[in-house]
Amino acid sequence: MKLPALNTTRILVAGDVMLDRYWFGDVNRISPEAPVPVVHVAKSEERLGGAANVARNVSALGAYAGLLGVVGQDEAGDAIARLLDESAIHNYLQRDVATATIIKLRVIGRQQQLLRIDFEQAPADGALRDKLARFDTLLCDYDVVVLSDYAKGGLVNVAAMIQLARQAGKMVLVDPKGEDFTCYAGASILTPNKTEFRAIVGAWHSEAELTAKAQQLRTSLQLEALLLTRSEEGMTLYSAQGVSHVPAVTREVYDVSGAGDTVIATLAVMLGAGLPLEQAVSYANRAGGIVVGKLGTATVSLDELQD
Ligand SMILES: Nc1ncnc2c1ncn2[C@@H]1O[C@H](COP(=O)(O)OP(=O)(O)OP(=O)(O)O)[C@@H](O)[C@H]1O
Ligand SMILES: [Mg+2]
Repeated sequence: MKLPALNTTRILVAGDVMLDRYWFGDVNRISPEAPVPVVHVAKSEERLGGAANVARNVSALGAYAGLLGVVGQDEAGDAIARLLDESAIHNYLQRDVATATIIKLRVIGRQQQLLRIDFEQAPADGALRDKLARFDTLLCDYDVVVLSDYAKGGLVNVAAMIQLARQAGKMVLVDPKGEDFTCYAGASILTPNKTEFRAIVGAWHSEAELTAKAQQLRTSLQLEALLLTRSEEGMTLYSAQGVSHVPAVTREVYDVSGAGDTVIATLAVMLGAGLPLEQAVSYANRAGGIVVGKLGTATVSLDELQD
């Protein structure tokens, strides 16, 4: 498959921005204080997480990525700003004194994750209001909008954001989360995974029942399409044109975390470049299959996609 040039495609990502941090070390003894291993930290690593990982995936494909969100005026916020620079992502983050940057810290010893520690705090109201105003002014500079919701409070204004983007004539892709999707009404495409979808429509017992539920949700939310990502089963697209399923690209799986971020980023870039929806979905599926074969929340390049 030959792709159009992507370097003029501009994707605005907004949502819950996080820092993924990893501490690696040796474990040689059990703590005298409690029956837990003592990790002697020898190395640390930092990666962009949440909405920032979506932006990183957009940039890795060679498109222009802008990232809007709220982080703290703390060292984790500095780390995110540095990583955004390194990935050539345009940084519109608001550094709010009243907000602490979200950090997911993994402690790894003997090649396995021993503990994950989450530092989470919803952004302050004032910062969110400023973010919405900024979003409105940025829209005209971008082709496609991606809203990456991890239910950490960065997208409490999601309904207003969708409305503003649609008024500006932009396509809006949303990676949803939570027990109520009505806030996403009017978006162009929603990309829930199976768990997120089940939380809204309940369990299904046949493909026919799944299709009925998906199409019903799509029409009730006035979406152009609903893209259900189904892990090793690939993904299914529901639209007014009907249903189309793309099986997963089978390969050795190393790490499934972040596959959803790669999928929505690829979909946005391909749609922004003018590809028809079904073709964009096919690329997104390939990208998801490639990224699960890499360790950590990784990215996919254009060369890998075109192979
Ligand atoms: N085991 C797998 N084998 C092949 N492809 C996979 C596998 N897991 C995921 N994928 C690809 O990645 C896509 C997204 O995966 P999934 O449905 O697990 O998203 P997700 O749960 O949102 O991921 P995450 O939240 O970990 O980022 C799938 O539709 C598929 O294309
Ligand atoms: Mg996901």
